Amino acid sequence: MALSSLSFFRAFLLLSLATSAFSTRPYKEGLAPNFYDYVCPQALPTIKRIVEAAVQQERRMGASLLRLHFHDCFVNGCDASILLDPSPTIDSEKLAGPNNNSARGFEVIDQIKAEVDKACGFSLVSCADILAIAARDSVVALGGPSWEVQLGRRDSTTASRTTANNNIPAPNMDLPALINTFQKQGLDSRDLVALSGAHTIGFAQCRIFRDRIYNDTNIVADFARSLKSLCPRTGEDGNLAGLDPSPAQFDSLYFHNLLAQKGLLHSDQALYGGGSTDELVKTYSDDVEAFWDDFAKSMVKLGNIKPLIGNQGQIRLNCRRVN
Ligand code: HEM
Ligand SMILES: *[C@@H]1O[C@H](CO)[C@@H](O)[C@H](O)[C@H]1NC(C)=O
Ligand SMILES: *[C@@H]1O[C@H](CO)[C@@H](O)[C@H](O)[C@H]1NC(C)=O
Repeated sequence: MALSSLSFFRAFLLLSLATSAFSTRPYKEGLAPNFYDYVCPQALPTIKRIVEAAVQQERRMGASLLRLHFHDCFVNGCDASILLDPSPTIDSEKLAGPNNNSARGFEVIDQIKAEVDKACGFSLVSCADILAIAARDSVVALGGPSWEVQLGRRDSTTASRTTANNNIPAPNMDLPALINTFQKQGLDSRDLVALSGAHTIGFAQCRIFRDRIYNDTNIVADFARSLKSLCPRTGEDGNLAGLDPSPAQFDSLYFHNLLAQKGLLHSDQALYGGGSTDELVKTYSDDVEAFWDDFAKSMVKLGNIKPLIGNQGQIRLNCRRVN
């Protein structure tokens, strides 16, 4: 009897901690890095282990996981809305232009959720927090900076393909449109340049950079020519080119390349070539520490966009559907 009421109390305590009622920062004030420390100390190491294994198996997966968090946060906040599959009641963001046949890594997120729930003993960690932690662990796995991830986000019960189409920046945008897209999320032009540095890892498809290599004038000829063999005027839409010359290394070559008019996307080159962000691109190109510092700070800002907290939303049992 004493034992069972003790374990009842323990369970109650754990649940209270899970909703952050006893944590050092009440949930009403927002997110906190120690959100899972007392309730499930295995949560973060479990996520890191699976991200590392996935990246070891395929380096690109680190890039794909980082991008998922970005595309989640720009659509009604970081609430895992991007993970919801199409259903009669879900207007899936997976089908939005920027995501369809492009966003990837969903199976790794499923695997993390299953393992983390097993490690914690119940469904405790939100899918939105998993995306934020996986993004950080991916950057670290590819040799980039680390940062403390704010935690305590909850998961949405809705998704919006239209909002995804409207809010996620497009690769044909010029600098003013890019600045505007970020400004709508509370991010400034410094965040824009630092976060665009995410394109130091990963790949883009021919269909995405075709117009740039055939039509843009702010591209160096040799670079355009070498890409044209990979990406003809028609067909081969899915052929991949690295977003920078070292797509599995979180270095500053992305910025270095912009100085030489070798940005792969129109939106990349828009950050350098006569506009207000030139100086910052130059700084990052020869100071990887400055890039890393700002990138880490901007990732925290990105992750803090309109989280669901307290009793808003839910902790999904399966990241692909609402409970
Ligand atoms: C500034 C505006 C941005 C635009 C217009 C943009 C656009 C794109 C496009 C079109 C692709 C290639 C997709 C494909 O070919 O399937 C891509 C890839 C990628 N983006 Fe961005 N992006 C932007 C900012 C960001 C930010 C802020 C992040 C993360 C913090 C990010 C992370 C990535 C990564 C890591 C990849 C490679 C993904 C992979 O290989 O699977 N991007 N982006
Ligand atoms: C998504 O891509 C598939 C395959 O290319 C295509 O058939 C479908 O029409 C696209 N969906 C939307 C909503 O654009
Ligand atoms: C380039 O511009 C021309 C003229 O505006 C357009 O017809 C074409 O579709 C564009 N893209 C490519 C890949 O040539």
